[in-house]
Amino acid sequence: MSAVPDEIRERAERLRAELVDHNYRYYVLSRPTVSDVEYDRMLRELERLEEAHPALVTPESPTQRVGAPVDTIAKIEHAVPMLSLGNAFDEEELREWEESLRNHLKVEALETEFVGEPKLDGVSVELVYEDGRLVEASTRGDGRVGEEITHNVRTIRSVPLELRGKSPPKRLEVRGEAIMSKAAFERLNRRLVERGEEPYANPRNLTSGTLKQLDPSLSRERPLDVFCYGIGRAEGIAPRSQRELLGLLGELGLHTNLELTVFGDLDAMAARYRDLVVTRDELPYEIDGLVVKVDDFPLRERLGTRSRSPRWAVAVKFPARQATTTVEEIKVQVGRLGTLTPVAHLAPVEVGGVTVSRATLHNADQIERLDVRVGDTVFVERAGDVIPKVVAVVKEKRPRGTRPYRFPDACPICGAAVERGEGEVAVRCPNRDCRARLAGRIEHLVSRGALDVDGFGKKLVEQLVDREMVDDVADVFRLSRDELLSLDRMGEKSVDNLLAALEVARTRPLARVLFGLGIPHVGETVGELLADHFDSLDDLVAASEEEMEDVKGIGPEVARSVHAWFQDEGHRDLLAKLARLGVRPVRAARPAVDADGAFAGRSVLFTGTLEEMTRSEAEAKVKAAGGKILKSVSKNLDVLVVGEKPGSKLKKAQELGIEVLTEEEFRERIG
Ligand code: IVH
Repeated sequence: MSAVPDEIRERAERLRAELVDHNYRYYVLSRPTVSDVEYDRMLRELERLEEAHPALVTPESPTQRVGAPVDTIAKIEHAVPMLSLGNAFDEEELREWEESLRNHLKVEALETEFVGEPKLDGVSVELVYEDGRLVEASTRGDGRVGEEITHNVRTIRSVPLELRGKSPPKRLEVRGEAIMSKAAFERLNRRLVERGEEPYANPRNLTSGTLKQLDPSLSRERPLDVFCYGIGRAEGIAPRSQRELLGLLGELGLHTNLELTVFGDLDAMAARYRDLVVTRDELPYEIDGLVVKVDDFPLRERLGTRSRSPRWAVAVKFPARQATTTVEEIKVQVGRLGTLTPVAHLAPVEVGGVTVSRATLHNADQIERLDVRVGDTVFVERAGDVIPKVVAVVKEKRPRGTRPYRFPDACPICGAAVERGEGEVAVRCPNRDCRARLAGRIEHLVSRGALDVDGFGKKLVEQLVDREMVDDVADVFRLSRDELLSLDRMGEKSVDNLLAALEVARTRPLARVLFGLGIPHVGETVGELLADHFDSLDDLVAASEEEMEDVKGIGPEVARSVHAWFQDEGHRDLLAKLARLGVRPVRAARPAVDADGAFAGRSVLFTGTLEEMTRSEAEAKVKAAGGKILKSVSKNLDVLVVGEKPGSKLKKAQELGIEVLTEEEFRERIG
């Protein structure tokens, strides 16, 4: 049919199989075996091959997840209605449910185990697979008719476009819950607010809004996930229990990781419920109850359904997450970047199973909007995040004589006049030496993702700062055994452990150190990109803004910020001090680099399609030969290697007088 050379077809097939497999490992098993960078590289290579040879494209290719926008959202009738669940509101009602089952069947005991699954607080969806291919996806709608959202569901990377295994079922309707993780929700909402748009109230609303967009390309920045827990019509599989069903769905490559528990009796299930009430916040996504199901499918058949919900399952809902209490005081905290955050100190109250005595008021605007005053009765809410917040004031209960809260003009810690940037909500303490900011910086440096110093908690940092035992973050490494012993709650054993942990922290990978320094815009990922490119802190200090911008994945804003940070004299002194105190970041393990290699110390860029090797293979060879890869043509580039159909890069490189190699010449150099 087409003239795609065999080796290109084979390469595309191999890439596709590998990408699908990595996707599965990453999103379904949560056990990735390649880095994101490597994954993207393979995806780009496949995209290029498919672009050059359109005959290679299949609808299930990992490159085809984002399709064209749709004009309208169509209605779809479910082959088997999607039922809802009956509710129970406490353990007592859970037991009543089981009793009602026994009564219904007129038996003494039920011959089954029970499975407990978290009740995911998302949008319930149905995925239809025919001969293993995803052909349709829809929302539950009213249970009978839902909305077609295939175009958006295809973009969800935990949803396979093709089921795994040799003989997929003829037709399979899978049911599950589409959700957005709390972390992604917060990140997105922050971005919406930055753009001056209205934030979403919760992850469920954002998930629902995302699934109903007409343009699937908008889903790219709104990562969703689907957890599967049931089936509608299924031809070709016949599981006999919930456990077996989840096992089968998992084998087909569907995401079923539901934190399942299986118990023979309801006492154990009640204990699981109590446990979830307190631990739900530790899950990365929102849940609003525990779904208890009869495990045995033949028994489910016998129990049957009522009009809208099956008898064999019940949703045990969690207690409300709002409560009212009074504000005793409003205090302002100062973070590492100087941001002032007002916090309401409350009369202790139980909210959804946890005692709360503090709640955030976010910022000055929020206090003004709510008009929160000391003495007020307020609603506090614990949402998915662990920090409770004040959501409303009960004005009717306001005592006489209260006064509107006045946000401080000076930093409550160091007294410096506070600042508020044009158009910003945050009020900041501008004093870099402010003790509160120092404490925040130390906490960040020793935190898990950074130097990860075991046993270096908040209380310890507070003491060090309050007693003026540290002037900067480097001083953490200067503390003597005696000094540490003089602190509260620090016995010989904890001091020795802490000193040992600090010793280990002196040689953390460069990426973690960069993150730990608290450079604006440098999160864990940017830290890794920088560390991967530059050999040491010294190299970073010496690097120009352009050189930083040349690093793949680093944009101009980040480059400017990092460059400015390293140019600052105070920061340079800090780095020198850290070095004196023995902090020597190490390079992450990576393939052996040849210092005398063909590209030692030189920067290389590839353009056009290579014939004999893939782009990633070629880039790896350059790195092994001591070279670096750049992402664009600039005066920092030493060598441009051109494959077939080079673009504008070649012209630009020629204009700048940069050395240009053909693929053959490149191979010769590498040897
Ligand atoms: S089973 C026939 N399992 O809860 C009943 N539902 O209130 C099928 N939900 O519409 C539902 N997590 O959207 C089931 N582990 C889970 C669930 C779950 C969340 C949702 C689902 C359903 C709603 C019912």
